[in-house]
Amino acid sequence: MSTVLITGTNRGLGLEFVRQYSLDGWDVIACCRHPSQAPKLNAISAASDGHVRVEELDVLDGGRMDSLGRQLRGQAIDVLINNAGVLGPRRGPGQKFGNMHYGEWMKVLATNTFAPMKLAEVLVEQVAASDQKKIVTISSTVGSNTETHGGAYAYASSKAAVNMVMTTMAKDLEERGIIVAMLCPGNVKTDMGGPDANVEREDSVAGMRQRIADLTLKKTGTFTRYNGDSVAW
Ligand SMILES: NC(=O)c1ccc[n+]([C@@H]2O[C@H](COP(=O)([O-])OP(=O)(O)OC[C@H]3O[C@@H](n4cnc5c(N)ncnc54)[C@H](OP(=O)(O)O)[C@@H]3O)[C@@H](O)[C@H]2O)c1
Repeated sequence: MSTVLITGTNRGLGLEFVRQYSLDGWDVIACCRHPSQAPKLNAISAASDGHVRVEELDVLDGGRMDSLGRQLRGQAIDVLINNAGVLGPRRGPGQKFGNMHYGEWMKVLATNTFAPMKLAEVLVEQVAASDQKKIVTISSTVGSNTETHGGAYAYASSKAAVNMVMTTMAKDLEERGIIVAMLCPGNVKTDMGGPDANVEREDSVAGMRQRIADLTLKKTGTFTRYNGDSVAW
């Protein structure tokens, strides 16, 4: 039985990852900020016969990450998915040129860039002890130099930075047989993507799960779209 740990699982892509991995018979460690306010996730967990376990984790809480690492000592984690993410301010003093909110930018960086690094540091032994040994971060083509549309400075820079963090980590962990990769889910209908997005959650996650299944050490450090196209960045 393989085990996946996913962050940000109470809604959006995270919840869909839990649903699909659970249907596929995986053991799922589903992390979310407020388990008591996650009815859909708790329903999946309740129906899973103990295979989906919900853990409280705010990825801005480094102390809780450390304690989760201690709690999971001895537990092999085949796939670690850094999914939790924020877009940052959409209006007001935000992320347009001439109107940057630097405090909010720092929060976006802490969530989208620092947290995936920290969680990988905390759980690397659990990943190393597994069969599959995969660390995956959900990034965005918005963080690619070749695909920026202007604006969204906070979000775009946080995803560009996490891509560099993961590419560097791929080099550092290669000798331990650990595969590190970035995936773009597409423009998906979630709270973040909005109702006019052109990809359904089910299709995005099914595609990303296939990409994760296909990962080998030869593909460490790569950035791929949910549909398998590689992203230049
Ligand atoms: N949707 C798209 O079109 C799209 C495109 C490219 C990349 N992405 C990336 O895909 C990932 C998932 O996005 P989504 O579309 O599912 O977004 P979403 O619907 O807005 O969901 C975001 C998830 O992240 C969680 N989260 C945010 N801050 C957190 C924190 N400090 N600690 C723990 N969890 C936190 C949220 O939890 P709460 O409910 O507690 O806030 C929620 O579960 C993100 O990394 C995003 O950048 C999405």
